[in-house]
Amino acid sequence: MVTIKSEREIEKMRKAGKAAAECLTEMMKLVKAGVTPLEIDRACHEWTVSRGYIPAPLNYHGFPKSICISVNDVVCHGIPDKRAFKEGDIVNLDVTPIVEGFHGDTNATVCVGKVKPEVRKLVDATLVCLWEGIRQVKPGATLGDIGYAIQKYAEGAGYSVVLEYCGHGIGRGFHEDPSVSHVGRPGQGMKLREGMTFTIEPMINLGKRHVYVEDDDWTVRTKDGSVSAQFEHTVLVTPDGVEVLTLRKGETPVFPA
Ligand code: MF3
Ligand code: CO
Ligand code: CO
Repeated sequence: MVTIKSEREIEKMRKAGKAAAECLTEMMKLVKAGVTPLEIDRACHEWTVSRGYIPAPLNYHGFPKSICISVNDVVCHGIPDKRAFKEGDIVNLDVTPIVEGFHGDTNATVCVGKVKPEVRKLVDATLVCLWEGIRQVKPGATLGDIGYAIQKYAEGAGYSVVLEYCGHGIGRGFHEDPSVSHVGRPGQGMKLREGMTFTIEPMINLGKRHVYVEDDDWTVRTKDGSVSAQFEHTVLVTPDGVEVLTLRKGETPVFPA
């Protein structure tokens, strides 16, 4: 069931989104060669609980940590471990604080030092994909419009879009209806309505789209071992368009080159 948020609920979603944006900003600063995902998990846990918020990932369906950290060919849901980042890695940090009962969900992919040009291009294109999706959002547009915009840009650039994991409604629940696919056809699927809140979080692979889940039941990797990038925002459908609830200080929309 898709919920339409009331003005009071929207205020709380704004607070949660702002917290998520601030948390992500701080965690992104920590990504450097030699730093371990476990250290960033500690920092994320501390950042979150010290403000009276709850890290939603922790114990979510048994997830053991407070942040997802997905490196290189890990598509999503990476479990922080003690393998240090190294120059050339791409690192996705995905944070979700709960503030006054509401979730803010956002992620970004960070490059560690110099990365191969083809990898840098994938990361940049994935961010464009997120914004191509976001700019479709307004009352009366459809979920298919979002998926189509993302798919068109990604495939047009020679990349592939992961199908198995999607954006999602968000609010009191971490993952609410609807499911927001990152592929689609214009005009198809659910119509967007003012007061809906959901995430858009395309996972784009340099190689083929196929993925598998590791034996730990969480870590999702590309089957062909190619690198995968992702960016995520939580958005609100406004009377005339979209409000990006997890926009970071100084962050501006990114449009195709
Ligand atoms: N934050 C992820 C998302 O964007 C979900 C992570 S679920 C977890 O939907 F359990 F792995 F934390
Ligand atoms: Co999400
Ligand atoms: Co997320």
